Amino acid sequence: MKQSVKLVAGNWKMNGLGASLTEVEVLRAALESEPAACRVALCPPATLIERMARAAAGSPIGVGGQDCRAETHGAFTGDVSAAMLRDAGATLVILGHSERRQGHGETDLLVSAKAEAALGAGLEPIVCVGETLQQREAGQAVDVVRSQIMASLPLVLAGRDFAVAYEPVWAIGTGLTPTLEQIEEVHRAVRAAMIERLGPGIAATPILYGGSVKPDNAAEILAVPEVGGALVGGASLRGADFLGIIRGA
Ligand code: 13P
Repeated sequence: MKQSVKLVAGNWKMNGLGASLTEVEVLRAALESEPAACRVALCPPATLIERMARAAAGSPIGVGGQDCRAETHGAFTGDVSAAMLRDAGATLVILGHSERRQGHGETDLLVSAKAEAALGAGLEPIVCVGETLQQREAGQAVDVVRSQIMASLPLVLAGRDFAVAYEPVWAIGTGLTPTLEQIEEVHRAVRAAMIERLGPGIAATPILYGGSVKPDNAAEILAVPEVGGALVGGASLRGADFLGIIRGA
């Protein structure tokens, strides 16, 4: 397993047209003149995966999807399979993002099936977990995240390349972040749950933090024990901002 190097991944969500690929050029040129200390990936909307993979070919920028269907093919209008993402040039896929858990009713069980499908197609899954504000205020953050880990990670992940992303729902797109102590507390709990679920062999699998990561807070968040990278939304849309975060790793 290649883990222990941090992974900084950008999630473009439903943003970006062909013209946005100039941001990849900006990033590529900067990383070619000064290599990153971490792995770098961008997850654009499905319509851009193939074009972005072409723009990033031969560079250190990996390309990922934002979701996939658990089934390999069939009558599922509008959905995309893991093999289709791979075929378009993706090497990673974000799964179980809170915007899918909440907006599309995705359960832990479904996320687990998707992770298994992703592995089967040769993709590296980034499985997302995180508590809502209500759960945080009720003191349930660690319990919620632990139970999401136990049910969302299929056993076949043991020994494979994957990542977990801890994204508190209340920190996404809000400019709010947990304290560094809160991030460390949850990341330690995530690690413990991952080991309980998959065994001690996953001790080096990266646990990314996501939720309002910006160039000015990235370095301190990435220095927190057990933070193995970042999953970045808004600040990944512009190459210069994303680069500021990558340089903090
Ligand atoms: P923001 O960085 O915009 O808060 O989004 C985080 C996120 O949801 C990444 O998946």
